[in-house]
Amino acid sequence: MAEEKAAKTAVLMVEERVFEPPKELVENSNVMQYMKEKGFKTEMEMRAWTSKNYVEFWGEMAKKYATWHKPFDKVLDWQPPYAKWFPGGEISMSYNCLDRHIKTWRKNKVAYIAVGEPVGDVRLFTFWDLYREVNKLANGLKSLGVKEGDRVSIYLPMIPELSIAMLAVTRIGAIHSVVFSGFSAKAYGDRVKDAESVVSITCDGFWRRGKTVPLKTQADEGTADAPSVKHQIVYKRTGQEVPWNKGKDIWWHDLVADQPIHCDPVFVDSEHRLYILYTSGTTGKPKGIEHAVGGYCVGPPQTLHWVFDLKEEDVWWCAADIGWVTGHSYIVYAPLSLGSTGVMYEGSPDFPDFGRWWKIIQDYGVSVLYTSPTAIRMFMKAGPEWCDKYDLTSLRLLGSVGEPINPEAWMWYRKHVGRDELQIMDTWWQTETGTFINSPLPTTPLKPGSCTFPLPGYNAEVMDEAGNIVPYGEGGNVVITEPYPSMLRAFYRDPERYMKTYWNYYWKVHPGWYLAGDQARRDKDGYFFIQGRIDDVLNVAGHRIGNSEVESALVSHPSCAEAAVVGKPDEVKGEVIIAFCVLRSGNEPSDKLKKDLVNHVKSTLGGIASPSELHFVNDVPKTRSGKIMRRIIKSKALGKDVGDTSSLANPEAVDAIPKIV
Ligand code: WTA
Repeated sequence: MAEEKAAKTAVLMVEERVFEPPKELVENSNVMQYMKEKGFKTEMEMRAWTSKNYVEFWGEMAKKYATWHKPFDKVLDWQPPYAKWFPGGEISMSYNCLDRHIKTWRKNKVAYIAVGEPVGDVRLFTFWDLYREVNKLANGLKSLGVKEGDRVSIYLPMIPELSIAMLAVTRIGAIHSVVFSGFSAKAYGDRVKDAESVVSITCDGFWRRGKTVPLKTQADEGTADAPSVKHQIVYKRTGQEVPWNKGKDIWWHDLVADQPIHCDPVFVDSEHRLYILYTSGTTGKPKGIEHAVGGYCVGPPQTLHWVFDLKEEDVWWCAADIGWVTGHSYIVYAPLSLGSTGVMYEGSPDFPDFGRWWKIIQDYGVSVLYTSPTAIRMFMKAGPEWCDKYDLTSLRLLGSVGEPINPEAWMWYRKHVGRDELQIMDTWWQTETGTFINSPLPTTPLKPGSCTFPLPGYNAEVMDEAGNIVPYGEGGNVVITEPYPSMLRAFYRDPERYMKTYWNYYWKVHPGWYLAGDQARRDKDGYFFIQGRIDDVLNVAGHRIGNSEVESALVSHPSCAEAAVVGKPDEVKGEVIIAFCVLRSGNEPSDKLKKDLVNHVKSTLGGIASPSELHFVNDVPKTRSGKIMRRIIKSKALGKDVGDTSSLANPEAVDAIPKIV
């Protein structure tokens, strides 16, 4: 593995298109205001200064974005690989998201526009509504004996009660572990047991593509052999019949019925844990990523305010699921902390048809939309007529996260959703980082497919295996070189794996350099282009080729909506490239189209990257968070054991991958 990581990745694709931000966006942006106050002449000067002087910068941001119960003694205590941010400070996340707003006019501002999947099922929650419901539930949790530091597992769909539950848990200083509602009973159970949670919070069921999912039954199955769980709180969402465990289950509405609407927030030490979030990565046992309260009260709101430029009157829609870090940070903590209005949608994007999202944008005047390349490629496959049907003129800024965005998907997004006018903030980050690390700002000229530069206060480099910064124009490992407030603090009860996963690789060169596990290249202007996970990189005749470059070349052909490429062992070349392509609607698979696509890659990237085989498929296997699972595609294609596919969003897509050996 180390050997493989050693080689630099080849650079095959050069993006020449540049999209300058409109003057009005730049002039009115939140970041421009900061630059004017501080006298920075250019964005690059500001990025460079704040990243170099990150301790001073974060000290200032901590005062600006968070309200502290007790001020911190110092900004940072960094003993690699462990950071303490704002030591000595005491703070409550729940207070920052709720109490400070209800003392202002925002008391009656809408915090969530909660759109259920059944058409017409819409609920509005003001900050006061949230405050009241959070407090009642917090008191309910206390009545069940939940204490500071206890873990509470939450298994709920995309309804505001999920956010309410998280805020109630943190209000009393307990630690939540949210598990994505699309995960199986077993996945929930494993995570509950690992965290030794004392309470499980779930609901009877929820809506998905017009049907109900029996979540309570799954929660029961998962927690049946979890002795730590003393109580299970059940929110009534669909009203369906549920099995009932006397003595353990309690209806949410019964628990809160007589609870007072005030509950004093528990102010905790800045380093107190806010949550654990299990991430499976691409292999192995899930890792319980721990995040700390103080840093989380600062990083998420600051990055949301600067990157997506949220203004008081914006309607923000982060279309991720709260079960992922994107939702933790940018549906719950950051927007509530800023006092923003956000949309939350329970259901599937194609229910009742592919126009659902665009109708939501039209109906609620969404102004900033943040979604993933997978979603964009799905809409590309369905065809632009769905978004063209709706009035999307309320939108003023777009965003992307989760995977490298293929430049053509970027262009499609800008054209069909962004009226050929809107800037796209391609944010590169991870569950581990808690906030965006690399991202454009509203002031940044954009290149399709690039997450541009490290944000102010962040430091990321592209390095070779020896820890040398690779020159612009070449590829290597993405390394985060300095700490930042929202970074992970540990793996839950597994310090060894924490050390091994991120820090060991460069420890001898420089303790404290974080190996992100992604490859990237920088172009001649220093723009970052993420090339994919280190493990997905191909090795063809001694050239390391980022899978995302080949996939992007395929997607740049007008008939291809999505592509996954994997390497097949080859005696001569080491590996040859095998491609799986999903066609856009209106295209039929044919041998001619195969040849066209292969030739297209050849002419875009050169012969070295041209696939030796290409197959058409209806879909490629993906995780439930939408990431293409190349490892599984490869195993299936090579006739090897694919392992457990139950965690995939579309296990049937695995069956459709042909065996090619
Ligand atoms: C990938 C999601 C390219 C990357 C917030 C990273 C991206 C992993 C981007 C983390 C992006 C995320 N461009 N790749 N804009 N955003 N990734 O933990 O491989 O679910 O390491 O966090 O997603 O995924 P996670």
